[in-house]
Amino acid sequence: IVVLGLLAVDFPESLLLLLSHDDLDQPGTTCGCFFSTSNQRSSQFYSDPVDAVKDIPAGATILVGGFGLCGIPENLINSLLKTGVKGVTAVSNNAGVDNFGLGLLLQTKQIKRMISSYVGENAEFERQYLAGELEVELTPQGTLAERIRAGGAGVPAFFTATGYGTLIQEGGSPIKYNKDGSIAIASEKREVREFNGRHYVMEKAITGDFALIKAWKADKAGNIVFRKTARNFNQPMCKAAKTTIVEVEEVVDVGTFAEEDIHIPSIYVHRIVQGASYEKRIEKRTVKKSQEDKPKPKKDSDIVRERIIRRAALEFEDGMYANLGIGIPMLASNFIKPDITVHLQSENGILGLGPYPTEDAVDADLINAGKETVTVLPGAAYFSSDESFAMIRGGHINLTMLGAMQVSKYGDLANWMIPGKMVKGMGGAMDLVASAGTKVVVTMEHSAKGGKHKILDKCKLPLTGKQCVDRIITEKAVFDVDKTKGLTLIEIWEGLTPEDIKACTGTDFEVSPNLRPMQQI
Ligand SMILES: *[C@@H]1O[C@H](CO)[C@@H](O)[C@H](O)[C@H]1NC(C)=O
Repeated sequence: IVVLGLLAVDFPESLLLLLSHDDLDQPGTTCGCFFSTSNQRSSQFYSDPVDAVKDIPAGATILVGGFGLCGIPENLINSLLKTGVKGVTAVSNNAGVDNFGLGLLLQTKQIKRMISSYVGENAEFERQYLAGELEVELTPQGTLAERIRAGGAGVPAFFTATGYGTLIQEGGSPIKYNKDGSIAIASEKREVREFNGRHYVMEKAITGDFALIKAWKADKAGNIVFRKTARNFNQPMCKAAKTTIVEVEEVVDVGTFAEEDIHIPSIYVHRIVQGASYEKRIEKRTVKKSQEDKPKPKKDSDIVRERIIRRAALEFEDGMYANLGIGIPMLASNFIKPDITVHLQSENGILGLGPYPTEDAVDADLINAGKETVTVLPGAAYFSSDESFAMIRGGHINLTMLGAMQVSKYGDLANWMIPGKMVKGMGGAMDLVASAGTKVVVTMEHSAKGGKHKILDKCKLPLTGKQCVDRIITEKAVFDVDKTKGLTLIEIWEGLTPEDIKACTGTDFEVSPNLRPMQQI
């Protein structure tokens, strides 16, 4: 290889050297293209974000980076308000909030369809969807990330266990309603294939006409880096659009960050604009409670929760990697024994999650999957959403703990949807429970309000996963779940008998010969 790049440094653009193989007729030499340092970039730099998005036409499919409000391209979204483009299909994990992020484009009715995993608490979104004004295609979070990754990598479709045996696979869930409440557009049924005795559904790649990306820094050659958990969907989306438009906080000289630290090489980046300012709104500002805060007097429900939490904490083993749902599972991590190390994963892109920050350490670019501000522990790592779910789907996480509305005797889980009510989305739950190598532990109150059974022969609510639960922990009992034989009662709260448990459980179960009192940390 002959390096002749230097020759071109001082040449104007029109005088690029073009060498042919004839010029370098030596064994072992290869000819490349030589660019001067001034025009080695393929990315174009814009000073006005409106200029960077003004050619996005009506009806375009736009991939929009971010997780919750973290790492969203706020200046580019605001620019779409100015261009007024209509009929947009927006592929984005979330839909912003009423008055920030994509929520703004919903208010102006510029979005025709959302492809998302969790639409959350957004009143206008809900109104438009139920009134038949907005199409919503709910996709499990890991499947969404991988569909986008596949789109960028030239893979037209792939098979995943996520969603098998649920509405995702069966199809028929409402994407769009008619004015009278009937279904105008239903979701497509997925093809199923069996590999090594497991069922998988076929998911198709997603590509966009444009991607709107928020990154931290771009160098002048167009390479980009992200900050903390603001990477999320931005990284795979960069690669999956015909035109990728990136807004950054800073444009720096080449070499400011090292070549090996680049998250997205310039080849994927077509337009760059430096945002004039960033609001970086925080959805759930959570801070560490100060020592002075007096503990509140305990209600009955707190006592029930604490019992579940103190039992759930015993599921942690030294060296484990665990993903914990918001609520009881996350609270259980406060009781991890000091002599063991548990690595907590957050599916928006953290391994090594730490406690809530102090007030002065709150960082809008560092949130957990519940959109709460958090910290990380020494040795932690950040990564993108596609990487995070590869980790989950690939069975590298030892334990997933999450809540449930219903669980069946064979371990079917329902925790994401109540028909007839507004559906907020499944988020990452379907992906987490579908992973073959991961132990799935459900923590929940034994019965629903009014004493309705939650542990049943068969779930009545739409499933999150089929035959996926390994253990159920309630305030009254602990069951092991065998995917073919059913439930075995292994622990019972002091003072209760198996007969008492039978009376409050909607299915039969075996009683372990080693039945013991419910353990507490
Ligand atoms: C966690 O899972 C890995 C396999 O992915 C396994 O090698 C390791 O022993 C497990 N650790 C614990 C503590 O269960």
